[in-house]
Amino acid sequence: MSDNWWREAVIYQVYPRSFADANGDGMGDLAGIRSRIPYLAKLGVDALWLSPFYASPQKDAGYDVADYRAIDPRFGTLDDFDAMLEAAHEAGIRLIVDLVPNHSSSEHEWFKAALASGPGSSERDRYHFRDVDPAKPEVPPNNWQSVFGGPAWTKTPDGKQWYLHLFDSSQPDLNWDNPEVHAEFQSILRFWLDRGVDGFRIDVAHGMVKAAGLPDTGGDGTIEMIGTTRSPFFDQDGVHEIYRTWRPVIEEYEGDRIFVAEAWTDSAERRALYLRPDELHQAFNFDLVLAPFSAVDFRKAIDAEIANNAGIGAPCTWVLSNHDVQRHVTRYGDGPIGLARAKAATQLLLALPGVVYVYQGEELGLNEVLDLPDEVREDPTFFRTNGEQIGRDGCRVPIPWRTEGPSLGFGDAEGWLPQPEGWAEKSVEAEDGTGGSTLEFYRQAIALRKAHKATGLTWLDDPGDNAFAFDNGAVVCVVNFGDEPVGLDGFDGEVLLSSAELAEGRLPAGSAVWFKK
Ligand code: NOJ
Repeated sequence: MSDNWWREAVIYQVYPRSFADANGDGMGDLAGIRSRIPYLAKLGVDALWLSPFYASPQKDAGYDVADYRAIDPRFGTLDDFDAMLEAAHEAGIRLIVDLVPNHSSSEHEWFKAALASGPGSSERDRYHFRDVDPAKPEVPPNNWQSVFGGPAWTKTPDGKQWYLHLFDSSQPDLNWDNPEVHAEFQSILRFWLDRGVDGFRIDVAHGMVKAAGLPDTGGDGTIEMIGTTRSPFFDQDGVHEIYRTWRPVIEEYEGDRIFVAEAWTDSAERRALYLRPDELHQAFNFDLVLAPFSAVDFRKAIDAEIANNAGIGAPCTWVLSNHDVQRHVTRYGDGPIGLARAKAATQLLLALPGVVYVYQGEELGLNEVLDLPDEVREDPTFFRTNGEQIGRDGCRVPIPWRTEGPSLGFGDAEGWLPQPEGWAEKSVEAEDGTGGSTLEFYRQAIALRKAHKATGLTWLDDPGDNAFAFDNGAVVCVVNFGDEPVGLDGFDGEVLLSSAELAEGRLPAGSAVWFKK
């Protein structure tokens, strides 16, 4: 395993609940992931990032952690974890786990002790509690709103205090002004590093520090998940102090281990601050998640990321989908055009210098499931907005592995969410070895990316309206974002890969091509 692997890796996000169910309870698990390591190795990914599998009441699909050192029985045991990690390492695949330091579950021992101990106690000081004002008992301490909808404050059962939760009321925010919180997370880092993990994805990495006095935000206090603006609770400069204490911990361990920030910032400049040499290694760049499928918007986002990260020597990251956003096949349009554009966008990402994140199932061309029945939905967003926002369950539907079976090979039982019509044809079984399938396209593209490594990016003359071309040092990549084919005059060389068949030397609408240099 090469040094600095994380500067050019393809990292695959596994969402454990929905990946593979080995014990037939309808929920994915660690043994299921282990059984699919050969599939991931064949796909050619360098590392996995696993969303949380810790003991949790699952009010926010595991991002509500009750015990940071235990595996939720739904997902298995620590032995299952060790066996999975070993299998991944044997296959040459690294493993990054999710760390959730902004909030715990309300079922965490600390929060239970805080409720039991009462106002003013050292137990309450690990969270953000504030007295209820008897003159205005229904008015929370400030105007902050939960990301999932509704106020960010809930009263304690005795009605005497409020506690802060930027997410669900089952996710109380930890108080990072308290040294005990710092010590606990350093210990949690070491627990997983000692077990051999290759790094951490840090959840809400921009949220742990709140402005002194918890002042009101401007406006009505509502916030967006991605695409947020700076506020008294997001992207405060104090978070950087925390990472300066974490970096030496991870550096004590051998093996080039890394931190990846989920930091929602309002600019690429602010994001780059998390990547200074004494802080974190990578930060997700969500600009392409937010960008419309257009040459101008993609180019702007690419330029901003490269300009900001190059200066501090941090790798760029490229992301199109994850467990929080609508799958990009669906974002880019209904039907075949959505899939065509999604493949083109993936081919573009794989030609960029830096790190590419792939969300499970995108290699099968899975679409967002928009018509899940209300009764099966689990995302707190759905409940906290009284169904006004359908939430994120539609990108979390279990993976179809086979063309038949109660959950198309996800497990022996029905999955925790139903799969839609048409997913048998998108299953691994259906796509494996099938010429022209999305899976074979991903396999080929990832292998070619490794064989032809990008060393930089130089823009070339645009080949047409809503199209662009660049040279990455190893290949020339041309992408057509438009609705009409573009001519490829002036581009020659061997065609290494094209996301759609070239027609009479023209690049079809919504497609990409790589020429060997
Ligand atoms: C970001 C995670 O990606 C999301 O799934 C979760 O709901 C929130 N953080 C809260 O932990």
